[in-house]
Amino acid sequence: MIKSLSEFKQAKVQAEENPGGFWSEVAREFHWKSPWKQTLDYDFSIPEVKWFIGGKLNITENCLDRHLATQPNKTAILFEPNDPTGEVQRLTYKELHTRVCQTANMLRANGAKKGDRICIYMPMVPELAIAVLACARIGAIHSVVFAGFSATALAARINDASCSMLLTADGGFRGAKTIALKEIADEALNSCSTVNCCLVLQRTQQEVQWNFIDKWWHEELEKVDDNCSAEVMDSEDPLFILYTSGSTGKPKGMVHTCGGYMVYTAYTFKNVFQCQPNDVYWCTADIGWITGHSYIVYGPLANGSTTVMFEGVPSYPALDRFWEVCAKHKITHFYTAPTAIRALEKHPTSLVEKHDLSSLKVLGSVGEPINAEAWHWYDEHVGKHNCPIVDTWWQTETGGILISSLAGVTPQKPTFATLPLPGVQTVLLNNEGDEIEGEGEGILAIKHPWPSIARTIWGDHERYKNVYFSAYPGYYFPGDGALRDADGNYRITGRVDDVVIVSGHNLGTAPIENAINEHPEVVESAVVGFPHDIKGNALCAYVIVRDMGVDSISIEKEIREEVAKTIGPIAKPDRILIVSGLPKTRSGKIMRRILRKLAAGEYDQLGDISTLLNPEVVEEIKRQNS
Ligand code: PRX
Repeated sequence: MIKSLSEFKQAKVQAEENPGGFWSEVAREFHWKSPWKQTLDYDFSIPEVKWFIGGKLNITENCLDRHLATQPNKTAILFEPNDPTGEVQRLTYKELHTRVCQTANMLRANGAKKGDRICIYMPMVPELAIAVLACARIGAIHSVVFAGFSATALAARINDASCSMLLTADGGFRGAKTIALKEIADEALNSCSTVNCCLVLQRTQQEVQWNFIDKWWHEELEKVDDNCSAEVMDSEDPLFILYTSGSTGKPKGMVHTCGGYMVYTAYTFKNVFQCQPNDVYWCTADIGWITGHSYIVYGPLANGSTTVMFEGVPSYPALDRFWEVCAKHKITHFYTAPTAIRALEKHPTSLVEKHDLSSLKVLGSVGEPINAEAWHWYDEHVGKHNCPIVDTWWQTETGGILISSLAGVTPQKPTFATLPLPGVQTVLLNNEGDEIEGEGEGILAIKHPWPSIARTIWGDHERYKNVYFSAYPGYYFPGDGALRDADGNYRITGRVDDVVIVSGHNLGTAPIENAINEHPEVVESAVVGFPHDIKGNALCAYVIVRDMGVDSISIEKEIREEVAKTIGPIAKPDRILIVSGLPKTRSGKIMRRILRKLAAGEYDQLGDISTLLNPEVVEEIKRQNS
């Protein structure tokens, strides 16, 4: 573990001068069934990236078997159910190992084998993590689909990867609601011909329809034992597929492979979060997203840490649930998303203060830029100015964290993700694709592969090349803009595809939003461009305010003044709509594509809005527009 700033600097130099040597040193800490022959081979023009070539391993032996000798009775997974009075489960490393082996045997007994794609559509219960690991145990490629997605979205993902098996549950608890997962899965399977077995976990005990491919999980488990040899995997064999949305409607199935993904997620978990042996680490994401894959399951378990799984939502049964759980389990590391912080920040701080948060040591943020107000609220009310905040920048495609401070080891800077981690060679490019030196603002790009970079898009390598390697040849292009200060710290400014050209001026929507958010009444905002006869494009701002009853005319005036003051009169939005919510994905990202269509009045081109967290706000915005 990197323990000082000088060790960090040294690691960065070593990783840059000799990437192969650096990463093979890190990789040697793991259990390999046979060693790799070459550390790295890559060519961004194909593009092709391979790490630990020829190495054989099974990631579950590193996440489970390896810890059996040293800490069999340590809690691996601590499960906090949706209902605060429900049963907390603590699975030790030994128990988790047994259950993964059993489940893996259940999959094998039902025909699953190495290379098969298995779709997992489950609630946040321990069996979800167990299912993921069971797939990895037998070399089946897991494709987890977030349990909030619709039947259409689920079917599209199952069909894209030709999954042969579906793992689901009767239903799932989520706040005050239960979600009829089996019913949704049934609907999806009506249009999926490749699935020939559906294993159903009993969670809610609700009634379900039964089809000839369905089998009860608990009945199938009874038929198998818990001896399960781990499949021998090549370092470059796929470990999983995870879908992420693209600029076109079709989701991209990002493919991650065994060796590099394991090494990088384990290394970054250890160094970014600085977890000590008795710490209790809680990442509030869902395993349906990359954050859950890398930093609930694989990263923490590869390090032998205790990782918390939370089934519920931050607002149930009350808005202090996060803080109640922190106090209840003496959480030391708390990793969440800015959208959650902003939602909670709207409510009285007494909700935080009534809980004893003195166990907290490290806070984390992920998924979007964290604005100054949210950062300081998090620091003051949750961290009590006593917990370093790691603002971790990365993507589904990158597999692990690329830019972040190391908790308590490297300096933090509010709203900055700070420095790239060892082995991550970031650059800023101008619009011509030339590298910007020193302080500046531009397009973020990466000029050397790190071990957990996604290797392809499932079934569409050409798209992989076009999206990530064609805009700026020789670089991986993540699609984000950033600015860099004189010390080399990066602040992610938002997607570069959200740039709007107004009267010939390039305007990033993110800085305009930041300006609007400075208004004390504003909770959140989103700015998009829409076609304008004279200017080419004009700006429309959707704004959520603290109190919907405020005088909207004066707020609009003040917002325009604020923007004019911060950025310039050119950036003043033409249209400001006060709304009660913004259309968001289940992971909390604002769907700007939909906002753009709404602003342009193209209501017939909204696409599938069923996967949104809050499709009702789309109707509300339409009413306001008319
Ligand atoms: O725009 C960046 C933003 O989220 C994008 C990746 O989204 P996704 O693949 O869903 O993964 C989210 C969890 C890793 C990035 O291109 N993003 C993610 N983390 C940050 C961020 N923007 C600013 N700061 C972050 N810490």
